[in-house]
Amino acid sequence: MDKYVLITGSSSGLGKSAAQKLAQEGFKVFAGVRKQEDKQALEQLHSNIIPVFIDVTSDESVNRAFEKIKEHTDKLFALVNNAGVALAGPVEYIPVDILKKQFDINVFGAIRTAQKALPFMRDIDDCRIVNISSMASYGIFPFISPYCVSKRALDMFFNFLTLECKMPNLKVVSIKPGVVSTPIWNKSVDASLKNLENLCEEGKKKYAKEFDFLMKNALKNTEKGLNPQDIAELVFKVLTVKNPELSYNIGKDSVFARLMSYLPVKISNSLVKAGLKNRIG
Ligand SMILES: NC(=O)c1ccc[n+]([C@@H]2O[C@H](COP(=O)([O-])OP(=O)(O)OC[C@H]3O[C@@H](n4cnc5c(N)ncnc54)[C@H](OP(=O)(O)O)[C@@H]3O)[C@@H](O)[C@H]2O)c1
Repeated sequence: MDKYVLITGSSSGLGKSAAQKLAQEGFKVFAGVRKQEDKQALEQLHSNIIPVFIDVTSDESVNRAFEKIKEHTDKLFALVNNAGVALAGPVEYIPVDILKKQFDINVFGAIRTAQKALPFMRDIDDCRIVNISSMASYGIFPFISPYCVSKRALDMFFNFLTLECKMPNLKVVSIKPGVVSTPIWNKSVDASLKNLENLCEEGKKKYAKEFDFLMKNALKNTEKGLNPQDIAELVFKVLTVKNPELSYNIGKDSVFARLMSYLPVKISNSLVKAGLKNRIG
């Protein structure tokens, strides 16, 4: 029997790689997109890929996507909550609207999609929700706090789902990649530069050096990270092993972030501050 998987945010990066890998392995993949040209590109990628328009911040869009899915099946084996953006800014000055936007996509979007997906999962023996979280979930990256906190919140909400949900057939998994070379970094720089323009003069001046460092580092990440295919392989593993772990780290930087999270906050804060001072001055 066909196994259907929905992946949100499949236009590029990890989502696109995962859609291609799963399609090649025989899954039927509903690949979430927001633009016509991305739909066409995905249709060409593999015949097992069925693009669906889905903006995770909109009830209407998510409802429509599931109506489309229902035209094919009423049983979903897995949801991969992958859609995401990374927004940056100093807590002292960042406009609250940016925090809301960050949460709207990375957190509420994933919950909204999962709430619609769960009824499609109830009557099958084994089903999975895979969240593409991040090493950012460990909360040790100053100036990208909106992103870090959104990933922590995502992990916490879905852990509560695991504790509460009366579906023994459901396995919820968090994948926490380190840096991966995808368009997210360029997009994040563009968005952050816009945010910076919106900061008050005092904020701009006070954090100019840190922002400059952050932007340069983000641009480096477009090249120095893991290959998105590495994450696609891991998504495939998580969907095919009998008993997946609750959480996976992928990338040395992600393992390092996890180890840091075992330290008392006082000590990890000192190490992070020393690291920042060393790199920024
Ligand atoms: N790259 C990394 O280093 C890294 C590391 C750890 C975790 N991650 C996570 O991996 C996931 C994928 O990111 P990526 O690196 O592959 O970046 P990406 O190439 O920029 O992909 C992000 C995807 O999310 C989609 N998206 C954004 N807003 C959306 C919305 N409102 N509704 C539906 N889809 C939306 C984008 O669609 P459009 O093209 O239409 O904007 C795109 O398909 C994210 O959750 C990210 O946090 C990435």
